[in-house]
Amino acid sequence: MNFKQTLHDKVKTTEDILLTYLPKQEGYSAKVAEAMNYSLLAGGKRIRPILMQEVFTLFGGTDKIIEPFMAAIEMIHTYSLVHDDLPSMDNDLYRRGKKTTHAIFGEGMAVLAGDGLLNLAFETILDSKMEPDFYPRCFQAMQVLATKAGVRGMIGGQTADILAENLGSHVTCEHLLYIHKNKTAALMEAAMMVGAILAGAKEEAVLDMERVARMIGIAFQIQDDILDVTSSLEVLGKETGSDSKNNKVTYVTLHGLDASQLEVKRLSEEGIAILLKYQSKTGEESSFLNQLLEELIGREQ
Ligand code: IPE
Ligand code: IPE
Ligand code: MG
Ligand code: MG
Ligand code: MG
Repeated sequence: MNFKQTLHDKVKTTEDILLTYLPKQEGYSAKVAEAMNYSLLAGGKRIRPILMQEVFTLFGGTDKIIEPFMAAIEMIHTYSLVHDDLPSMDNDLYRRGKKTTHAIFGEGMAVLAGDGLLNLAFETILDSKMEPDFYPRCFQAMQVLATKAGVRGMIGGQTADILAENLGSHVTCEHLLYIHKNKTAALMEAAMMVGAILAGAKEEAVLDMERVARMIGIAFQIQDDILDVTSSLEVLGKETGSDSKNNKVTYVTLHGLDASQLEVKRLSEEGIAILLKYQSKTGEESSFLNQLLEELIGREQ
C-alpha cells in the first residue's frame, strides 16, 4: 500500500461526497451559501471524515449511510474554524492557505456561515434516505455528534480556551487538559464513535473508539500548538504565532517543546495500542488507519 496515494484518494472521495451536499448559491441568501462553500472547499486535511470512514470499515460497515455523516462532521469542524478565526475569538487572517471567511465576506457573513454549516450538518443527515432498520443507529450517531459538538464538547472547550487567555500561570495542567479534550478531541471522538455506531459495533467497542480518539485528539492539539511555534504560514496554511498573540496557555508554554513532542508520541501510541485489539481481527484491511494515526504524530500541517 502506498500510504500517500491512498490518503490522497481518500481525501478526494471525501471531497466528492461533500460536493453533493453543498448549499445552492441562489436568491437573497446566496451570499451566505457562497461563504459556506468557500470555507468548506478551501482545503484542509479532512481527517475527521476519513477517521469516521476507516472506523466504519473496521467494524464491517459497507453501506452508504456513512456518507451524510462524513459530510456532517466536516461541516461542523469547518464551522468551528470559521468562528475560531473571528476577530472576537482568535482573530486570524489565514486558514487552509486562504484568507479566512470573515476576511473575505465580513464578520456578519462569517458568523452566519458558521451557523449555516452547523445547521446544514444535521439537515444533511436528516434529509438522507435510509432504510428504517438504520433509524436506531442513526439516532444514536446523531446524539453523539450533537453532544460532542456542543457545550459538553467542542463549544465547552472553546469557552474554556477563551476564558483561559491572560490567566498565565493560573492555568493548571488539569484546566489545559479540559480545553484540549473538549475543543479538539471531542470532534475526533464523535468521528470515530459515529463510524463504529453506524457499523453496528458493540457498546464496549464504541467506548474504546472514544478512548482512542480522546488520546489522538489531545495529541493532535498539542501538535497544533507545537506547529504554531515552529512552522510557517507557507507550510501550515494558517498564521503561526496565533497562540502567543492571544496569550494562550498551551502544552508548549507549560512544558516546553521537547516534552510536548514526547507527549504527542506517548498519547498517540497509547491510542493506537487500544485500536490494535480490534485490528488483529481484520488484519491488512486496517493498516491504513494505523499508519494515518502514526503519521499525525510528526505532521507538519
Ligand atoms: C484545526 O484542525 C483545528 C484544530 C483542532 C487544531 P485541522 O488541523 O484538522 O484543520 P484542517 O481541517 O486540516 O484545516
Ligand atoms: C481551535 O484550536 C480548535 C477548534 C475547535 C476550532 P486553535 O485555535 O488552536 O486552532 P487553529 O490553530 O486556529 O486551527
Ligand atoms: Mg482557538
Ligand atoms: Mg485558532
Ligand atoms: Mg492552533
